[in-house]
Amino acid sequence: MKKQWRLVLICCLVLVVVVIVVENVIKHTDQVQESKGPAKPVASEIDDTLWHGRSEDQISIKTDSGKLILYGYNLIANTSFYLGPKGTVAHISNGMNCQNCHLKGGTVPYANNFGRVYSTYPQFRARNNEVESIYDRINDCFERSLNGKAMDSSEREMQAIYSYMKWLGEGVPKGVAEPGTGVMKLKYLDTAANPLAGRVVFVANCQTCHGKDGQGVKNEQGTGYVFPPLWGKHSYNDGAGLYRLSNFASFIKNNMPFGTDYHKPALTNEEAWDVAAFVNSQPRPHKNQSMDWKNITKKPFDFPFGPYIDSFPAKQHKYGPFKPIVEAIQNRHI
Ligand code: HEC
Ligand code: HEC
Repeated sequence: MKKQWRLVLICCLVLVVVVIVVENVIKHTDQVQESKGPAKPVASEIDDTLWHGRSEDQISIKTDSGKLILYGYNLIANTSFYLGPKGTVAHISNGMNCQNCHLKGGTVPYANNFGRVYSTYPQFRARNNEVESIYDRINDCFERSLNGKAMDSSEREMQAIYSYMKWLGEGVPKGVAEPGTGVMKLKYLDTAANPLAGRVVFVANCQTCHGKDGQGVKNEQGTGYVFPPLWGKHSYNDGAGLYRLSNFASFIKNNMPFGTDYHKPALTNEEAWDVAAFVNSQPRPHKNQSMDWKNITKKPFDFPFGPYIDSFPAKQHKYGPFKPIVEAIQNRHI
């Protein structure tokens, strides 16, 4: 009996050693492959310094203010359940959830997280040519990313989302954007992003979840999506942040296919730009943006609608190559 146990123990030890060795070999192979591509921070170097937020189970729900924070989290995670086309509270958004793009309640590094929201707003936003509050910024995403309607800041739902952002941002000093917030900006390609090549990337890497026609997959009750739409009338509109190629490509590089994170991106930079070009060439709701960018000198390099202060065509502003545009902008500011 004793001998058998010893044997089992030895087997376990051997297994552990084999796993460690194999893992190291895989890591090493990765690094070799990585070194061919553009430089990327090594996870072990940056992990501890990145902002990771905190999870909703840390919200103390003994007080009314705690309950409001938790409601705010739920509105981010299940926006559609409360505020979607079949919402229990109101019908002011398209069926997507804030969390579809701000992963895990907006706490994941390089996944459009909310780490710098409470610390850096109110802030000047060139698109609106005015100082924006957190409420304004939340409404921007309601009106564009969720192709919906704005909410008044006095509404309970808006107060709840605000409280959640405030709670998440506790501990982040005023004015500071900690490492890992927003997205990791992707290097530009030397060429224009190619929607046709992007279609191939989409078929191979995205359509199993997001659907052949990019329309996503609804949940059983039809109250929201298991896999959110990438285009079509229930997707974000052409005034949304993701409609700009750099935002889309940077987000998916470190986060898609779902389950990927910044430690081990699945797509090459070129694939990320190309699939961004493909998805953002498909039909989606239009937003009247005539009131945006009153100061056109402040338009971002990849803003796809003119007029522009430079002479690069709209097509280049949409698909690239972006380097010449970025350089022109930099020279202008000197
Ligand atoms: C379709 C994707 C998408 C959805 C859905 C979405 N957002 Fe966003 N959101 C973005 C992107 C992309 C940005 C950054 C855009 C930029 O900087 O131009 C952003 C930025 C923000 C910011 C500012 C972050 C910062 O660091 O300045 C806030 C706050 C925000 N979103 C809140 C929300 C809320 C609340 C919801 C749900 C009502 C929501 N978003 C839904 C894509 C989305
Ligand atoms: C394994 C399933 C899966 C695959 C494969 C996948 N996604 Fe996603 N994707 C998701 C899920 C789930 C979400 C929403 C995440 C959440 O709510 O937590 C999402 C969200 C998104 C979003 C933000 C929300 C929206 O609908 O606009 C984009 C953009 C996106 N995915 C693009 C892609 C691209 C491009 C690919 C292929 C390179 C891809 N995804 C592959 C499951 C997947």
